[in-house]
Amino acid sequence: MKKEKSSVPEMFDRISPQYDMANRVLSLGLDMRWRRSLADQLPSRENLSLLDLATGTGDQIAALFESGASIEKAAGIDLSSGMLGIAESKFAKKPYGKKTAFQQADAEKLPFPDNTFDVCSFSFGIRNVNDPLKALSEMYRVTAPRGRCLILEFSLPDNLFRKPYLFYLRHLLPRLGGWISKDREAYRYLNKTIEQFTYGEAFLDWMKQCGWMQATAIPLLFGSVTLYRGDKP
Ligand SMILES: C[S@@+](CC[C@H](N)C(=O)[O-])C[C@H]1O[C@@H](n2cnc3c(N)ncnc32)[C@H](O)[C@@H]1O
Repeated sequence: MKKEKSSVPEMFDRISPQYDMANRVLSLGLDMRWRRSLADQLPSRENLSLLDLATGTGDQIAALFESGASIEKAAGIDLSSGMLGIAESKFAKKPYGKKTAFQQADAEKLPFPDNTFDVCSFSFGIRNVNDPLKALSEMYRVTAPRGRCLILEFSLPDNLFRKPYLFYLRHLLPRLGGWISKDREAYRYLNKTIEQFTYGEAFLDWMKQCGWMQATAIPLLFGSVTLYRGDKP
């Protein structure tokens, strides 16, 4: 059951105050490790400009700056004003806060000219958009030649870990998430979007269709999360 686009930002507005805490608890702190894995895939160039799509509370941008990479400036866009409000107040206290600008915008219609950024990242957000191919094409459009996209998204393990992971997704995660966020509906939505979303080779095909070259998938935690990388020639 796919939520209509209009209701997704409202749901994230509602859970925004508890979002970071829920992430830490539900992933046993591993979300921060996954974000660092994404940062490890940054191109090794100086003065990178970054765009983080569906940035939420900004934790992916923070991990990118804290990786020690040479980053000149970053932009974070999201549809939820609640999530962006939390990001802005967190970044006001960070040394890289002045290098970062947050803006309310749609990942399917980015308000930036062609070839603007060296890197576009998209963490745990692409399964929430109505048209992921549109978002992948928009990322490609705003990425500069020799630039890179880095995408983190949930996936389903194709191994022995699948059964226990599905049990966690279907039974524990909605209860725990609902308890922390006081919003059971939001965390029921989470497990459905994870189970229904495209991953692995099929997602790499989407990336290639949108122009991304050398598209690669790196499975994390037995394949329950996948890090995708693609380059713009
Ligand atoms: C699961 S959160 C991920 C947030 C953040 N990237 C992270 O790693 O914690 C998904 C985010 O996608 C945002 N979102 C959903 N659809 C969007 C769209 N079309 N454009 C921009 N943001 C969107 C939601 O508002 C929410 O903040």
